[in-house]
Amino acid sequence: MDAYEAIVTRRSIRAYTAQPVSDGLIKELLAAAMSAPSASNRQPWYFVVVTERQQLDALTAILPYGQMLKHAPLAIIVCGDSERQPLEGLWVQDCSAATENLLLAVHASGLGAVWLGVYPRPERIEELSRLLGLPEQVTPLAVLSVGYPAEQKEPADRYDESRIRHNRWTP
Ligand SMILES: Cc1cc2nc3c(=O)[nH]c(=O)nc-3n(C[C@H](O)[C@H](O)[C@H](O)COP(=O)(O)O)c2cc1C
Repeated sequence: MDAYEAIVTRRSIRAYTAQPVSDGLIKELLAAAMSAPSASNRQPWYFVVVTERQQLDALTAILPYGQMLKHAPLAIIVCGDSERQPLEGLWVQDCSAATENLLLAVHASGLGAVWLGVYPRPERIEELSRLLGLPEQVTPLAVLSVGYPAEQKEPADRYDESRIRHNRWTP
């Protein structure tokens, strides 16, 4: 699958088979995440890889729309370090780029995933930080629920001319 095909065919996958994801493949996914661009190349990201059943289940108590984690073999929590950024707030953009890289690498590898929002909801950030034992300066941005797909989805065509302006807002 080439890069363009991966981008336009990626969908959120919320049902998985019981097949575990190998350590080698997890490493490839994380390498893709860490290939993302970042402001001043500060790479403010950390990734918490969760494979323990008990810890995966605990995530579902924090994420109301993350119940698919009960059947996922893997979660990757993308976190940002506020001490590794040239300007306050840039870590969110850097870590979002890493998250999208992860989603695309997942899809291109024959896996499926869904982005579960954490940041900027204070209660989710607080509870997740406690569960994972994150240090003060590290904030969770998103949880990715990952596994081999047990559902197939057609690509979504979202191309919309009305969202495009040429040269300036009004002609
Ligand atoms: C910031 C963010 C938060 C999201 N949170 C959730 C979530 O909590 N639960 C969920 O099932 N999907 C979540 N999604 C996935 C979106 O629902 C999904 O990307 C959107 O409906 C488009 O569908 P697609 O990913 O299949 O193209 C989230 C996506 C983003 C970018």
